[in-house]
Amino acid sequence: MNAFRSVGAQLALALALVVAIALGIVYAIVVPRLERNLVAAKIDALRRASEPIASTFDVAILGTPDLRLDVGERLSDISSRTNARVVIYDPLTLDSLSVIADSRQQRTSTAVQDDPIALEAAATVASAQGTLTRNDERYAEVAFPLYTSSGTVILFSSSLRDTLANVELVRRRVLLAAVPALIVAALLGYGLASVFARRIRRLERAADRIAGGRFDEPVVVSGRDELAQLGIAFERMRGRLSQLERARREFIANASHELRTPIFSLGGFVELMANEDLDEDTRREFLATMQEQVARMQKLATDLLDLSRLDAGQLVVDREPLSLAPLAEAVADEFAVVAQATGHRIDIEGEAEALGDELRVLQIARILVENAIRHTPPETAIRIVLGRDAGRASMTVEDEGGGIPAQDADQVFERFYRIEGNRASGSGLGLAIARELAALMDGALVLEVEPGRTRFRLLLPAGAPLREPALV
Ligand SMILES: Nc1ncnc2c1ncn2[C@@H]1O[C@H](COP(=O)(O)OP(=O)(O)OP(=O)(O)O)[C@@H](O)[C@H]1O
Ligand SMILES: [Mg+2]
Repeated sequence: MNAFRSVGAQLALALALVVAIALGIVYAIVVPRLERNLVAAKIDALRRASEPIASTFDVAILGTPDLRLDVGERLSDISSRTNARVVIYDPLTLDSLSVIADSRQQRTSTAVQDDPIALEAAATVASAQGTLTRNDERYAEVAFPLYTSSGTVILFSSSLRDTLANVELVRRRVLLAAVPALIVAALLGYGLASVFARRIRRLERAADRIAGGRFDEPVVVSGRDELAQLGIAFERMRGRLSQLERARREFIANASHELRTPIFSLGGFVELMANEDLDEDTRREFLATMQEQVARMQKLATDLLDLSRLDAGQLVVDREPLSLAPLAEAVADEFAVVAQATGHRIDIEGEAEALGDELRVLQIARILVENAIRHTPPETAIRIVLGRDAGRASMTVEDEGGGIPAQDADQVFERFYRIEGNRASGSGLGLAIARELAALMDGALVLEVEPGRTRFRLLLPAGAPLREPALV
């Protein structure tokens, strides 16, 4: 597998990307905002320190020649208190000022000559503040008009060097932190992904095992996360497939066994028939038995075909309105000869309208009536009762034979299941087919257990009740 396609590489890359984005946000948004806040705080502090000084500054000393000598000293005193350069201006014109005093008297004042903030304060006759860059250095400045009539202005200018140095430090730290943070994120991502990858590979191996038909080894699950849930789902699938596989093997074994018996029997009879010394009566007797075996094989083949179609979902049923009474009568007629031979009496009561497939309903009725004749002693009464049950159409086939023991009630519907000790057993497929057909028609086949009585009830979606034609 391409190394960059592995979960490890992808997760490592994703984590590194997240860290890079987070650091980028810090760098692009947080750092400039920090700078703005620090500068604003600096201007605020400067304003707070200088405002009381400006408001109490005695302008008179500027005009008094004796006191002028003191001005320089006073300004350096104010400068050290406010930690700012202090300059006093007089307006020359509307957009030019002349410096009349500067706390840095020893140096030239040309740099602060036309300070825009001082100009603004002079022009608006109100305090002004802001930042500006002078000789490659940024300053925070606050200016106040001193003598409103003459337009004298006092300016406090404080370097932002320290403040900006702090911001620069943060900026550099963020950039420096990015390298180890990205490495750690990538390593962490790779490590975490390796743990997941190991678990995914275990599931992959389990899936391969199941795909290869090896259902014996359970899927081992650790943890409680989504991967563990996936593992549990795999384990469920394995259990179900293993069950199906067992059922399939059993089905094939049972079906072959069922087919083998009549084939062996037929083989034996064919050999006996080859003996020409047989008298006519024996030959006829053998032929009758052979016909029975062939009929048994035919029924078995049809049943197996039905089951395989049911399993494959290939059996399509109609959903047409049906009157159940004529169907019950047709089945009773089919079995009339057999029933007469064994002294069984078949009665039909009631009527019901259902929705279903005529051929399949006939098939179910045949299975139930055949069972009622075959698995009960001679002379047993059989009733087919038609009616409604909880809004559904019902066909109940009941007999007064020995009944089915409660512990067998569920299993009689399983494929190839026959109750032990039953006199005349078939292949045990009839009820399994009947129940699946009923379900296919959105109905159900239920067994009501009662000692001495067997009652199978077929429930189908109810059809519209027959209406008398409306009188016009
Ligand atoms: N009316 C009944 N009275 C008593 N036992 C019954 C009755 N109907 C079914 N059984 C029992 O249930 C078992 C399963 O019935 P089912 O119809 O599935 O199979 P079968 O009749 O043995 O074979 P076939 O596939 O030929 O129908 C029967 O073998 C029988 O033991
Ligand atoms: Mg049967």
